[in-house]
Amino acid sequence: MPSPKLYDLNHSAIWAKLHQHQRATRHLHMRELFEADPARFDKFSLRLGPLLLDYAKHRVTERTLALLFELAETAQLSHWRDQLRRGAPINLSEGRAVLHMALRGTASDDYCVAGQSVMPAVLAVRARMADFAQRVRSGVWKGFDGQAIKTVVNIGIGGSDLGALLACQALVPFADSGLTVRFVSNLDGQHLAQTLADLNPATTLFIVASKSFTTPETLLNAEAARDWLLRTAPASAVAQHFVAVSSQTERVCAFGIDPVNMFEFWDWVGGRYSVWSAVGLPLMLAIGEAGFDQFLAGARAMDTHFFTAPFAQNAPVIMALLGVWYNTFYGAHSHAVIPYDQGLARFPAYLNQLDMESYGKRVGQQGETLDFDTGPIIWGEVGVNSQHAFFQLLHQGTRLIPCDFVVPMHTHYPVGQQHAALVANCFAQSEALMRGKTDAELLVELADLPDDTRDMLLPQKRFLGNQPSSTLAFEAITPYSLGMLMALYEHKVFVQGVIWGINSFDQWGVEYGKQLARRIEPELHHPLPLTHDASTNGLIAHYRAQHSPH
Ligand code: F6P
Repeated sequence: MPSPKLYDLNHSAIWAKLHQHQRATRHLHMRELFEADPARFDKFSLRLGPLLLDYAKHRVTERTLALLFELAETAQLSHWRDQLRRGAPINLSEGRAVLHMALRGTASDDYCVAGQSVMPAVLAVRARMADFAQRVRSGVWKGFDGQAIKTVVNIGIGGSDLGALLACQALVPFADSGLTVRFVSNLDGQHLAQTLADLNPATTLFIVASKSFTTPETLLNAEAARDWLLRTAPASAVAQHFVAVSSQTERVCAFGIDPVNMFEFWDWVGGRYSVWSAVGLPLMLAIGEAGFDQFLAGARAMDTHFFTAPFAQNAPVIMALLGVWYNTFYGAHSHAVIPYDQGLARFPAYLNQLDMESYGKRVGQQGETLDFDTGPIIWGEVGVNSQHAFFQLLHQGTRLIPCDFVVPMHTHYPVGQQHAALVANCFAQSEALMRGKTDAELLVELADLPDDTRDMLLPQKRFLGNQPSSTLAFEAITPYSLGMLMALYEHKVFVQGVIWGINSFDQWGVEYGKQLARRIEPELHHPLPLTHDASTNGLIAHYRAQHSPH
């Protein structure tokens, strides 16, 4: 099948039809849609194993969804989904396949790149990880003075940090080995210094995670960590206290890490999609091989669902099309993600990278300039804290901001009545955002007030509602359900990219700033001529003055 020219999609009949449909339906209030159809929840919700997706609180009708599915058909989503599954080089600008699904595959899967199965290599690395994790967890792996490892410090950034950090925090209740796992990503020395402050070098293991093994933040932190170790340990201790996760063996060796202690991954794994690879080693160390297998199994179940379910019952497809509906047809600029679970506190940060590094593109796959908006700004914070911070803007601000609520039905921390109260808050927020309050309801509330006070308060207290949200309700956060959740969003990202015709798998935009930083750093220390703009020159001169001996 010839590749469709996706950038023509916005000149297609279905694109125009959706714009027309938006104009015709934008006056509809969800409150009325619910009143008119008692079966709305049944129609617009999906159950997948431990996950319930409720997408009834959206500004859509059955017709809207039918049109959005037609849009997906026109964008040849099935074709692109098949290309993804087959390991075609759909990351065109880097000439790479996109096969992170293989990382959660089994021996019976047939994920191939250029006609070669990748499964033997994937399974071999996973087996090495399991062996290593078992040795560290059981205390067989010793530090330089013969003590067992007590703390693992992952040094990495972006995709070599966020997914594993999220998973380790979310799955603390499953961490059964007594190991503590910490993460260092920031170049600010405070992060490393504070992380190491109470640690004993003899019982600390560092994982240096970097696909490229050129990322300065990670390498500088790793060098500083090595110096910290070698203040009390002999040079030979590096082999016992440093392992690497990378696709670059030579650079790992150049750093001084024995390739025997390197866990490989491949160029067909994007950094932000890599937690299922050896990048997930901190998680395997924390929850063990069986727990990690469950994490992969949850993601694999989501893969099967995504690859086989018809669009109308396909959770990633539905979430992606709703995203396109608001972004492209409503002009919504942002999307909030609110996890009602302390363990998922870093979920918004993880999605910042997954979503915004994927969609931060103004050109399509073929380099054509797109004349419509692509990725939204993803933001969020745990509920209920966010209710006391920015929910005012969601309830009474001027912008349309779709939200995703993520909430487990059971907690691992049954403290008092807190979990029921937490869940009640989550459900209440989505209801309030959807319903708003009618003036008639407000007038009843304000009935006892004098007329002029009531007239003054009425507009202040008005809640228009009609703010859309999805709720992802899990039985409980487990390795399996977390795997499902993270894979769900990965596939959502893929689908939106197909509709918009962009490459969701490259990230050229982050390179330029890195180049300039490399140029500016020596200029801070040496009296080199400054040839930047006046503002940047001024800032560099200011730094120099602060560091001048006089
Ligand atoms: O931020 C840019 C980026 O390349 C991300 O895509 C990636 O996840 C991160 O840096 C870390 O890269 P590496 O794993 O190569 O150190």
